[in-house]
Amino acid sequence: MLHAVIMAGGSGTRFWPRSTKEKPKQFLKIFGDRTMLQETVDRIEPVIPPERVWVITNERYMQLVKEQLPDVPESNIIGEPVARNTAPCVASAATLLQEKDPEATMVVLPADHSIGNPEKFITILETAAHKADEDDALITIGIRPDRPETGYGYIEFSKDSDETVKGHEVKKVVQFREKPDLKTARQFIFSGNFLWNSGMFVWKAAVIANQFKKHLPEVYEQMEELEPAVGTNEQGEAINNFYRNCPSISIDYGIMEKAETVYVVPGEFGWNDVGSWRAVYDLREKDEKGNVIQSDTAILESSENNLVHSENKKLITLVGVENLAVVETEDAILVCNLDESQGVKQIVEALKSNK
Ligand code: GDD
Ligand code: MG
Repeated sequence: MLHAVIMAGGSGTRFWPRSTKEKPKQFLKIFGDRTMLQETVDRIEPVIPPERVWVITNERYMQLVKEQLPDVPESNIIGEPVARNTAPCVASAATLLQEKDPEATMVVLPADHSIGNPEKFITILETAAHKADEDDALITIGIRPDRPETGYGYIEFSKDSDETVKGHEVKKVVQFREKPDLKTARQFIFSGNFLWNSGMFVWKAAVIANQFKKHLPEVYEQMEELEPAVGTNEQGEAINNFYRNCPSISIDYGIMEKAETVYVVPGEFGWNDVGSWRAVYDLREKDEKGNVIQSDTAILESSENNLVHSENKKLITLVGVENLAVVETEDAILVCNLDESQGVKQIVEALKSNK
């Protein structure tokens, strides 16, 4: 049976001052009435009902997840006592799932991406699930790159493979390279047979468990420790021990770069990992001056191509400026050139070290 494992423990910093350590991006309504986490669950509902959705998050966000996802059983919401990146998150989910359903196939999803065409996305997911079931393989979902982005993983696919599963291409992966440097990323783009890793994966729980045994034995050992406690009164404590004893490593570096039998399903479904204020600007509808205004209390004069976000408490006015993000919250005001919105990370770092 198909289950979803949503990784929701990241503490994204690029949406400061809206996102904070207490409430990172996945718990915010960036695009409409639903938070990014809720949108993630909503869009898979045609194939995975809430009873089969699992959310792995940091302990500190457990309450937020419960409030935002009332239809997901509380026992499917797992809190991590310490953040150990995504490999331990996937490993613990695989261990819990196998106990419930030894035949489980898991769809691993980030909690904070935007998808413009959910119907198309579902068909890609169905293809990936079918292939994962048939071949005991690791399946990734790949996106055609349009720039040499260094913040993503890259997937080299074999030019000779031309399989079609449920109407979509499936390609054999030659190598998986997490976050290359700019020079390497440029070469990848130039060579034409690389895709971006969307960060979404599909595999059987038993198959990924085996990959941990092979490539991350120190995590596998912890899976073996956790397994007998699953479903008992000891589960909570066993999960805490699991995380405390695991190294911090991402699934991309820990497993994907090393695994042998990997396939990619290329998908075009309006994917965006919404990594900056610039991405929000790009994805939102603009007015006739090219401004995106998320505020009832903003007045703009001779100003073009700006993003304004406020909590509607103060009057925000812009005169004769362009290409800015102006973000006002209870605690802070950000004014930033939209082309440099990645720099917000540095502000957050500086704030941390001033504490
Ligand atoms: N439970 C849990 N625990 N979740 C976590 C943790 C953790 O310690 N760390 C991160 N996550 C969640 C994040 O909330 C996010 O939903 C997802 O895991 C991916 O983590 P990111 O930190 O956003 O990864 P990334 O963006 O640097 O890279 C990944 O995504 C790219 C696409 O957006 C990689 O998979 C890249 O290869 C990929 O291209
Ligand atoms: Mg990310």
